[in-house]
Amino acid sequence: MKNLIYAALLVAGIIVLIGFPACRHEIPLPGSGGNTGGTDTVPGSGGGSGESCSADTVYFAQSVLPLLSSSCAQSGCHNGLTGGDAGEYTLNTYAGIRNIVRPGNAGGSKLIEVISSSTMPPRGYAGLTADQVALLSKWINQGARNNGCTAAACDTSAVTWSVTITSILHTWCTGCHSGSAPSGGGVDLTAYGNVLAQVNSGKLWGDISHLSGYNAMPLGGQPLPACELSKIRVWIKAGAPNN
Ligand code: HEC
Repeated sequence: MKNLIYAALLVAGIIVLIGFPACRHEIPLPGSGGNTGGTDTVPGSGGGSGESCSADTVYFAQSVLPLLSSSCAQSGCHNGLTGGDAGEYTLNTYAGIRNIVRPGNAGGSKLIEVISSSTMPPRGYAGLTADQVALLSKWINQGARNNGCTAAACDTSAVTWSVTITSILHTWCTGCHSGSAPSGGGVDLTAYGNVLAQVNSGKLWGDISHLSGYNAMPLGGQPLPACELSKIRVWIKAGAPNN
């Protein structure tokens, strides 16, 4: 089994290295910007605003909105379009999220109450991780502001599957792409092998870079910020290693 995985990795690496010339029109590879890691300065997009990013602050635009949109506002749930109980709460806008939090008081916020008591998400959906609950609590305790930040530079020098890529996918994608029956077309994006298959088919990059002919991801949401896209591009160009 291990050997198979290594062989698959090797083949994937070779395909990326030689640029798969015969199929270039079918399998889009990340743009050939000559990016081999290092510091990649990209224009901010997707919620960058005002202040420059600080590691101690949790930002609504960069962390809270993508996480709640992906985990709670998928089709049929808290997206402002659904009727019934779910429709009472819209969790893909600041105003909707602000309704269920008490700034400065995570413990007294309905949002934290329902996710930490496992009331939400309902059975069949993957729950939020302890880290994700802690992140949301920190944002609330910092005042639940409608804040965003702009990274001075995008550091793509140490991109790994286990830290960088999984954390991007957890923030933006696994709300729909995890669990026993992922609402995202049945595609689980928590296991390395599953993600690699989507990389090799060209769909991962096609979907997140909103190429025509692909399903734009995250579904119904803002595209990933430029820095996240750069990190994924660098990782794919390196052969999508399991590092
Ligand atoms: C709100 C739910 C939702 C979110 C968030 C979401 N997806 Fe999807 N995803 C879907 C659905 C639904 C499908 C099935 C699409 C179809 O078959 O039309 C899908 C399909 C896919 C596929 C399979 C290939 C394809 O195009 O059918 C990939 C790869 C994918 N998504 C990647 C991502 C990535 C990467 C993210 C995060 C950046 C993401 N998705 C976020 C709902 C979502």
